[in-house]
Amino acid sequence: MAAEFTQAKVTVPGVISSKGERKLTMLTSYDFTFSRLADRAGIDMLLVGDSLAMVVQGHDNTLGVTMDEMIYHTRMVVRGRRRALVVADMPFMSYQVSATEALHNAGRFIKEAGAEAVKLEGGCNVAETVARLVDVDIPVVGHIGLTPQSIHRIGGHKVQGRRSGDAPGARGRLLKDAMALEQAGAFAVVVEGVPADLGAEITDTISIPTIGIGAGAACDGQVLVMHDVLGLEERILPKFVKRYADLADASVEAMSTYAEEVRSGAFPSRAHSYSSPRPVRLRKAQ
Ligand code: KIV
Repeated sequence: MAAEFTQAKVTVPGVISSKGERKLTMLTSYDFTFSRLADRAGIDMLLVGDSLAMVVQGHDNTLGVTMDEMIYHTRMVVRGRRRALVVADMPFMSYQVSATEALHNAGRFIKEAGAEAVKLEGGCNVAETVARLVDVDIPVVGHIGLTPQSIHRIGGHKVQGRRSGDAPGARGRLLKDAMALEQAGAFAVVVEGVPADLGAEITDTISIPTIGIGAGAACDGQVLVMHDVLGLEERILPKFVKRYADLADASVEAMSTYAEEVRSGAFPSRAHSYSSPRPVRLRKAQ
């Protein structure tokens, strides 16, 4: 039976203890309005994903978004939510140069933007950095498998750890990555773009929750990009995306009806116009 949704504020310890108890829900969010709506919908975690480079800024990949831009969007998301835990995504090159720079940038998300955790991509290669962040009480979500910041090395958005096709040892390496993140103190791991059986194996191997995106049903939770779920992103439709609404078409329809009504004069009607109070008539003096 599905565990009940509670209204209580989602916290890092709450996320950790949900493993095996109830499925976690995560959605990306990039602004105040959608953050409020997602919170009302009972989404547990809002990820201010660097995917905003693609779905908000219109770039072809996630590499170009800056720390300042991520901070700007994180602030809006934090303002919109009451219950959900806000996780800010560390953009490309904000944590790779040195652990000191990673500390500085992760600290900005917590201090300046009000995020409650950060996410960064990588496994064994970032374990030391993760440990440094955790050491100063910055909660960290890991991200392994198809890591979009590695797009040039991978050669595209390709499924990782397939039994055939990938370099031998790729599956073992992903398991090691997951274990290294757990060891370093990450409180959850996003697992992206791996076969469902590998998603299940990783989930069984580590004691912290896995949050899958294209990683099968066995993960402890799921994450999707908000614009995909709402049918706002029309350009790409990966296999793992399920559209729960068609807001792109609904938006175009609403906007074209508005434009037609402005052109025809149907809008604004009296109902949407202010009226002046009638002038007060002064009685003639007798
Ligand atoms: O930036 C993002 O949206 C992400 C999710 C796809 C997990 O990292």
